[in-house]
Amino acid sequence: MAEKKVVWGAIVPAAGIGERMNGIDKLFVEVDKKPALVTVIRKLQRAGIRNIYLGVRPNMSNEIIRCITSNGFEGRVWTIDGGATRQETVSNCIKKLHPEITHVLIHDAARPYVSTDLITKIQKETVEFGATCAAIPVVDTIHKADSEGILTETIQRENLWRAQTPQAFSRELLEMAHMHATGSATDDAMMVKSLGYAVKMVRGEESNIKITFPEDLRH
Ligand code: CTP
Ligand code: MG
Repeated sequence: MAEKKVVWGAIVPAAGIGERMNGIDKLFVEVDKKPALVTVIRKLQRAGIRNIYLGVRPNMSNEIIRCITSNGFEGRVWTIDGGATRQETVSNCIKKLHPEITHVLIHDAARPYVSTDLITKIQKETVEFGATCAAIPVVDTIHKADSEGILTETIQRENLWRAQTPQAFSRELLEMAHMHATGSATDDAMMVKSLGYAVKMVRGEESNIKITFPEDLRH
């Protein structure tokens, strides 16, 4: 039997308000001499992903389209209205995926330092495995504390991973996970796992930080 053709789509959650950035819009900070969002799109395209869905704040859509077109865009990049939570933003984008897409890679706009190599590695593993999550094994000792800040428990760090994006899934799995979603999951790997499917951890990159605080820009 002929193997089904793999067609990739990427979802880029970019609809957050960046509350912790003290007024700096992390979508437009300069990374590799371009606005961060443009750098993310370029890296996805370099990995061969042609269909890219940006989940954006509705009032930002025009500005974002202007920014990406003035940076000389080719390929198919769409802006989709995001939601109140990251999960909702991803769900809104899933609804707009082109019918021919078989696999979906999700990468936060807030992680513009990702390498194209990591994107490619995630794609490869996903085709084989169905669901993957870039992550880094925890090396620090992890303490749990009560609300007063008093240590209550030290967590065994063996087998603990810090999740990053990219994460990628067969379209079917991702759609199912979002259909059954309850609360506001902070990533898609946990949603797919809650459905009972295996998610493969793929070693991410220390440099693939999520821009969260202004200090993260001194990178
Ligand atoms: N995100 C999104 N839709 C939301 C909330 C977040 O698409 N309703 C996206 C952000 O744009 C970001 C990614 O999810 O690319 C990770 O979120 P985070 O780092 O928390 O960014 P913000 O939510 O923008 O920041 P903050 O929590 O400080 O407001
Ligand atoms: Mg947030």
